[in-house]
Amino acid sequence: MVKKLNGKSFALSALVAASLVAAGAMASEKTEPRNEVYKDKFSKQYNSWHETAQSETLTDALEQDPALVILWAGYGFAKDYNAPRGHMYALTDVRNTLRTGGPTSAEDGPMPMACWSCKSPDVPRVIEEQGEKGYFTGKWAKGGAEVANTIGCSDCHEKGTSKLRMSRPFAARAMEAIGTPFDKASKQDKESMVCAQCHVEYYFEKTEDHKGFVKFPWDGGTTVEAMETYYDALDFADWTHAVSKTPMLKAQHPGYETWKLGTHGQNNVSCVDCHMPKVTNEQGKKFTDHKVGNPFDRFEETCGTCHSQDKDHMLTVYKGNKAKVMELKGKAETQLVAAHFEAGAAWEAGATEAEMKPILTNIRHAQWRWDYAIASHGVSAHAPAEALRVLGTAVDKAANARVLLAQLLATKGVKQPIALPDISTKAKAQAALGMDMDKLRAEKDKFKKELLPKWEEEAKGREATYK
Ligand code: HEC
Ligand code: HEC
Ligand code: HEC
Ligand code: HEC
Repeated sequence: MVKKLNGKSFALSALVAASLVAAGAMASEKTEPRNEVYKDKFSKQYNSWHETAQSETLTDALEQDPALVILWAGYGFAKDYNAPRGHMYALTDVRNTLRTGGPTSAEDGPMPMACWSCKSPDVPRVIEEQGEKGYFTGKWAKGGAEVANTIGCSDCHEKGTSKLRMSRPFAARAMEAIGTPFDKASKQDKESMVCAQCHVEYYFEKTEDHKGFVKFPWDGGTTVEAMETYYDALDFADWTHAVSKTPMLKAQHPGYETWKLGTHGQNNVSCVDCHMPKVTNEQGKKFTDHKVGNPFDRFEETCGTCHSQDKDHMLTVYKGNKAKVMELKGKAETQLVAAHFEAGAAWEAGATEAEMKPILTNIRHAQWRWDYAIASHGVSAHAPAEALRVLGTAVDKAANARVLLAQLLATKGVKQPIALPDISTKAKAQAALGMDMDKLRAEKDKFKKELLPKWEEEAKGREATYK
């Protein structure tokens, strides 16, 4: 089925040697955060990068699947969560989401600085200027005027060259922890590592010294079980569930980890092989397409470089895998929603901490596994078998929790089944949790009208001082 194992069909040495000679001295020695600086000199890469703006559809994941609101009750994701879109929107979307709230000053707001970490080349710039401690200290709003450019050149490239780099020290440390420092990695590995700066599982590590550095929980490995063990050993929880009081874990987007476990990861087919193919323009010039998006849009240059089957066939295989993953995802969610409400009923009936402990551990592990499988966007393409395996364990653990709950509720004399509220829409699910969405929206609107323009003005002023 595979035409050639290593799909690169032409040598790129000349291109890779191309020098990104920087336009003058910049704010930071190592990082030019402004993507526009490269507009003329590297027009092919710049223009194709800019085309990620064409992926503009904003899909409201909570509207599509209101069960998510219940699963994330008490946490920011229950307020607002959209499916990913083009890199060009990363900064816009993190400013607009209700999760980041409506800060009125640099000290205000629900989220930490760490929430900028995968949105912009200004992040490595600020880390270089202020150190990690300087960057990570403070609320999200502290970085508003500093983080001004969306994901771009300096996130992946060394300044003044097309050489790939890891721009985030926390990502570089994580690669070392799993055995391959970036400098020692092969070209193929580097092509996935640059994406792994952001498309990974991470958490905000708190120590006596600081309140929330980004860390990848990979010290014991990158499988779902290894990370679960890691978090359990730390007694770490992202939040306490509002209904079941479970100490919960929120998976971010472990795309790199799940890709590694799939057929392509196992065969070292990199993220770039499928999402940033080598292409030829009308002038016959070869370059790397920087429009990171859906690989099926450029089938011949992506899948087609290695596979002989046609696009329709490959799409059918992909859609079939996706349907299976979605089916089991739905089953896990149904079990988990019920488990949260049943646990809530058990607390109300006077259950003790000791009685609840094994139940909450099952809920915690079940939801972590469900989230790991589906939050790694693209898992149906990257590692469908692993997604199904992990979702199977999620269903199993949620069912364990519910068996224990049924027994406990019976001993407390609670009539079963426990009635579930109407969660047929996002609005109904949020209302069932007593969330005041109008207030959150009003705060966000005020922020966009008052504070956001100030951030933009300040950023413009600072960048005007760069050469
Ligand atoms: C998400 C990471 C990423 C971003 C963002 C990115 N690049 Fe690249 N770039 C790559 C990769 C991967 C390659 C291919 C290198 C390889 O295959 O080893 C590449 C290659 C290049 C090359 C070498 C020639 C070629 O086409 O292969 C140039 C020049 C370049 N990029 C410029 C830019 C510019 C200018 C920007 C910003 C507008 C940018 N890149 C943004 C990842 C990125
Ligand atoms: C600096 C962090 C960062 C890096 C590096 C990065 N991404 Fe992303 N990526 C994001 C964020 C954030 C989003 C979601 C943007 C949004 O929805 O506003 C995203 C979205 C995407 C999407 C969805 C695009 C769409 O149109 O739906 C794909 C695919 C993707 N990234 C693949 C990659 C690949 C492949 C690489 C490496 C070549 C990479 N990313 C490197 C942060 C990053
Ligand atoms: C064998 C090809 C292949 C490889 C290798 C690959 N991907 Fe994908 N990826 C796909 C396909 C196909 C999709 C589904 C596209 C769609 O339906 O929008 C996808 C989807 C995604 C999405 C979700 C896009 C969305 O809008 O939901 C992200 C993010 C992503 N990939 C990132 C990565 C990262 C990061 C890597 C490397 C760690 C990687 N991919 C490796 C083929 C690949
Ligand atoms: C750089 C080469 C390369 C590219 C690009 C590539 N593949 Fe593959 N693909 C492979 C290899 C290698 C295998 C494993 C073949 C084997 O074990 O027989 C594979 C296996 C598969 C399989 C069988 C999966 C399984 O789990 O056994 C499917 C389906 C597939 N690829 C789809 C795609 C799609 C869709 C794309 C484009 C989005 C794509 N591939 C891009 C190299 C590639």
